[in-house]
Amino acid sequence: MKAGEAGLGVVATGDRGLAVRVAHPHLLANYARAPVTFVRGDGCWLIDDREERYLDLVAGLAVCALGHAHPGIVGAIAAQAASLVHCSNLYSFEPAGELAGVLAELSGFERVFFCNSGTEANEAAIKLARKYAWRNGEPERKVVLAASGAFHGRTLGALAATDNPLYHEGFGPLPEGFAFTPFNDVAALELAVDERTAAFIVEPVQGESGVVPATREFLAAARRICDARGALLIFDEIQAGMGRLGSLFAFQHFGVRPDVVTLAKALANGLPIGAVLIDGRVAGALQPGDHGTTFGGSPVPCAAALAHLRLRAQGDLDAHVRAMGQRLANGLRAIAREFPERFDEPRGVGLMLGLPVRPPYTAKAIVAAALEERLLVNAAGRNTLRFVPPLIIDAQEIDEGLRRFRQAIDGATNERAV
Ligand SMILES: Cc1ncc(COP(=O)(O)O)c(C=O)c1O
Repeated sequence: MKAGEAGLGVVATGDRGLAVRVAHPHLLANYARAPVTFVRGDGCWLIDDREERYLDLVAGLAVCALGHAHPGIVGAIAAQAASLVHCSNLYSFEPAGELAGVLAELSGFERVFFCNSGTEANEAAIKLARKYAWRNGEPERKVVLAASGAFHGRTLGALAATDNPLYHEGFGPLPEGFAFTPFNDVAALELAVDERTAAFIVEPVQGESGVVPATREFLAAARRICDARGALLIFDEIQAGMGRLGSLFAFQHFGVRPDVVTLAKALANGLPIGAVLIDGRVAGALQPGDHGTTFGGSPVPCAAALAHLRLRAQGDLDAHVRAMGQRLANGLRAIAREFPERFDEPRGVGLMLGLPVRPPYTAKAIVAAALEERLLVNAAGRNTLRFVPPLIIDAQEIDEGLRRFRQAIDGATNERAV
């Protein structure tokens, strides 16, 4: 099956005889969609339109933390939908206020802004940082510094803070006032942050560019340097937050408190939501009229997020994530050592793991082979396989995933890899 056929409504046969139907010819072809159509989810499993069950180690790209169709989330969505679906931010309404309170209590950040996606959360954080400097009488402090390899989203502002030339190509001119500094390089950061820097934005674990954790030393230095130079420190926890690293917030794992945290993805376990957690000292920068959104804080996603936070508090999900992350990492390490010509050692934290693939083998070919084993994994940057399963995954499912993965490697021949 060629990726280019996606979007043409073709019927084709996969490499191992799996009949595939690309069913949606009118969807914009901005994704090279895999040749499968899912119709249902059940915990860590997705079921396609032929009733085939796939073990999902992607979780909607680090979204469905409590898995698919969790009854507690479904119930909260249904109850909220039956009561109030939308109400303008011109008024107060619940459960946005309640969710903001719970997030504030759990994080220690005083104020919360809700939007609809990760990109929007970063966009708001960038605007907040500039306005904060402006209100402090430093209008020249405009530069948003990001790290090499960073991914912060696809709107023009968030894209300007994203270090991927492929994503920039053809979309210029991008907004001014963005700069990059090498990831995990303290000496370079010392030089990069100056009196024009409004904020340094960084992912505690870079996701899209291949699951690369920041060092504790780098994030601690970022805190110290930003304080010394009067810049804000923003952690983009859109992928690494909400329990993925084995702590509710990534900043807790690293023991470094930023001024602003952006969240999205797993927050509402699958419903669209973004959030910016803002330190009280900074929050006054955005006043009525400065920033807004029609749907941000909408009741149904907020109800799902509240249910998610309540459900995760019922057990020790963080300890579970650490244990399952260890189990998956150990299994991937064993496979990497068995096939040293194909893989480097896995990296990552908790249940955010990457397995670097060595050329001429490609992560994309292995993802395709895994699909035929009814296993979902994802190809991220730097030719890395990304594993971000639902956080509720159990030991048996991890072992089953590793078994299917091992089988997929046997299927990913050198011919397919290049
Ligand atoms: C670290 C990070 N920031 C921002 C985004 C953008 O989020 P969204 O796709 O919800 O706009 C992503 C999405 O993958 C991400 O991983």
